[in-house]
Amino acid sequence: MKSEKLIYQGKAKGVYETDDPQKVIVEFRDDITAGDGAKKDNINEKGFWNSIISAKLFEIIEEEGIKTQYIDLIKPGLMLSWKLEMIPLEVITRNIAAGSLLRRYPFEPKQTFDPPIIQIDYKSDEYGDPMLNDDIAIALGLIEKENLEKIKEITLKINKVLRKFLESKGLLFPDFKIEYGYDTEGNIVLGDEISPDTCRFWDAETCDILDKDLFRQGESGVIEAYKRVASIILDEENKKKWNIEL
Ligand code: TMP
Ligand code: ASP
Repeated sequence: MKSEKLIYQGKAKGVYETDDPQKVIVEFRDDITAGDGAKKDNINEKGFWNSIISAKLFEIIEEEGIKTQYIDLIKPGLMLSWKLEMIPLEVITRNIAAGSLLRRYPFEPKQTFDPPIIQIDYKSDEYGDPMLNDDIAIALGLIEKENLEKIKEITLKINKVLRKFLESKGLLFPDFKIEYGYDTEGNIVLGDEISPDTCRFWDAETCDILDKDLFRQGESGVIEAYKRVASIILDEENKKKWNIEL
């Protein structure tokens, strides 16, 4: 089913054409990078677990009537998806102060935000993913005002849905980054991935870090943490369907 034609190659994923012009296959690879590629590695099974965690979280979001690219997992690591024309914005939602926010601004570590903060960065390796404001995003022609408002509204809804789900499983959700695209009818659809590569997940009791911050900080146990997220969020039906033992 995966044709040979690669249409997009990112730092951790590839997108392949299928026989159906409306569908693509997203391959989740084991490559892992940080600092815009300054730190690189390959972690066995990372793509496998990220694809499963993303599939589960996309399903949770779809259940609330929000459109995502997700159609099915062909097998762990390969996600059949709707083809989207991606918008080069990194839409970050912050519920708890962590990461670059603490390096850039005088927030207290673990300070909570209610309402959450939405931060939009320009997805551009050339410019180092700079933070935008609405006027700059619109002036650059990256998005129209109306669609920007729509994206913020959908993002807040996604945050609510995911927080509720993750908190019910004993996980804190300090922040996450998502990306959107347009489907062939021009609808805004959630794309990319929602995984420990693109989110912060903390154990609510112990505050253990269960995401890519372990890699960013040069710590061990990256894949064990990703697997722990999977084992926390998957139910028996998911494990059976995707043939997973945890
Ligand atoms: P930050 O605190 O480093 O700005 O990260 C905010 C969130 O965005 C965090 O959940 C990790 C995610 N993220 C990405 O998905 N890709 C990136 O390139 C960066 C810098 C962060
Ligand atoms: N995604 C960025 C990179 O691949 C940075 C990061 O996630 O920390 O280099």
